Amino acid sequence: MSPLVSDHESKTGWEADADVVVIGSGVAGLTAALRAAELGLRTLVVTKGHLSDGNTRWAQGGVAVVLPDEADEGDSLDAHVSDTLAAGGGLCDVEAVRAIVADGPEAVRRLRDRGARFDADDSGRLARTREGGHSSFRVIHAGGDATGAEVQRALSAAADGLAVLEHHVAVDALTAPSGQVCGVRVLAGPDATPGVVRARAVVLATGGLGQLYRSTSNPEQATGDGLALALRAGATAADLEFVQFHPTVLYTPEAKGRCPLVTEAVRGEGAVLVDAAGRRVMEGVHPLGDLAPRDVVSAAITRRLASAPGGVDDHVYLDATGIAGFAERFPTVAAACAAAGVDPAREPIPVVPAAHFACGGVITDPHGRTVVPGLYAVGEVARTGLHGANRLASNSLLEGLVMGRRAVEAVAADVASGRLPRERGIAAPVPRAPVVSRPVVQRLMSRYAAIGRDADGMAVAGSALDVSTQDVPLWTVEAVEDAALTLVARAVLAAASAREETRGCHVRHDRPERDDRRWLRSQTVRLNPSGQPVLADPILEGVA
Ligand code: SIN
Repeated sequence: MSPLVSDHESKTGWEADADVVVIGSGVAGLTAALRAAELGLRTLVVTKGHLSDGNTRWAQGGVAVVLPDEADEGDSLDAHVSDTLAAGGGLCDVEAVRAIVADGPEAVRRLRDRGARFDADDSGRLARTREGGHSSFRVIHAGGDATGAEVQRALSAAADGLAVLEHHVAVDALTAPSGQVCGVRVLAGPDATPGVVRARAVVLATGGLGQLYRSTSNPEQATGDGLALALRAGATAADLEFVQFHPTVLYTPEAKGRCPLVTEAVRGEGAVLVDAAGRRVMEGVHPLGDLAPRDVVSAAITRRLASAPGGVDDHVYLDATGIAGFAERFPTVAAACAAAGVDPAREPIPVVPAAHFACGGVITDPHGRTVVPGLYAVGEVARTGLHGANRLASNSLLEGLVMGRRAVEAVAADVASGRLPRERGIAAPVPRAPVVSRPVVQRLMSRYAAIGRDADGMAVAGSALDVSTQDVPLWTVEAVEDAALTLVARAVLAAASAREETRGCHVRHDRPERDDRRWLRSQTVRLNPSGQPVLADPILEGVA
């Protein structure tokens, strides 16, 4: 047991106390926790699985960054900013993009100082690849296609001395009468023993919500818990309708749950998408061809599948047979292909789009602060404005590295300025929440709210969620996760139904055009007093 955790039983079960509790142990969470400890804050990490189990370790492509003296000729921070804005479909926050991209080189230097090893080219400089939407080769990578695994390894090793509660699930925020968040209620271990962690600040680094869908590149833990917790604590969220589908996960018949990614870097190194008849999928679709931004490629694949004779095709192919030394350059993809009986050196890889990344999330300022004092959010759970309507490939590890550090520096500043007095939160009785089981949520969201949505389908999904809902107490991990998925599904449906246009990852069959006159703005979601996600007035909320 961590030294910060007392073993005495109180009214609320076991208790722990820290200055800052970080929920989640991926790139953003561990970067935050390590910096918090450096700043002298008593820091506790709470994580659902093992320290290294989150989404970060599955990231393949790399970290998008323009390093001084190690960039393509003509590449620059401005070019990286401009590619990010182009991918984001008009909804990025330009200042946030500039600030995060500009901090990238320093963030990568610090990560390397912590022991992360990136691949080198023949001259000994960092090897760089290209992914969808990037105008230059600026994605640095590790272990070929195992960048996330290396980043996680380095950060987990550096976190060795930190206080960590593994297999602990955050249920809801403790809130003081002043409205300040000052801890979280937590379920511990296989028996889900309830307890509380008291802290001056809670940093959410809980990752994404890919498990809303039947096929996803995300692990089982990616159930939107942090977003649900933040909404229940009074925070606001934005851009939730923009769920990015990665164009290429490995297709296997009847695939469910986490599907192996086939990194975009495979296309960056020359592979092309073809349909069952061998015709190029991306020809004539976008000037960047197979390296168009992800939303464009995923939508093009979906259209091609829908137009196949008889509508019977359920996947396309990625022809990588022209890439020499495929297994050495892409060992993770090669191993997944081998397990599925596919040899990428000789035959095209069967691929299909799958839910991959939440472009929206809890609204934060450029320092990770939410609108709720004491509550901060970083990484995929947060919406900084970097991604807009569609994230540029490999900008997410970058964002986690930059924002993880900034958020706890903001915590330290807020403690020093007296903005976060030590408050004692009220641990109300175990909350109850509306719950629909994960398979039902996944079936509805995959059928009605994936790539290609329309008003009628989303209304069907919303009504089906309503009639399937049961109110249950959140005293098991399954209940916490299903309640989060249920709430987040409703929030995504609310935002996606209201946005009557097609933009970025939000593709509407019934509104196929982009409508800048009405929709060149983000939508804010919060909970109404009965706990339903509703859209807030964009002007009053100050998100545009
Ligand atoms: C990939 O390698 O294609 C995924 C990287 C990312 O999602 O940024």
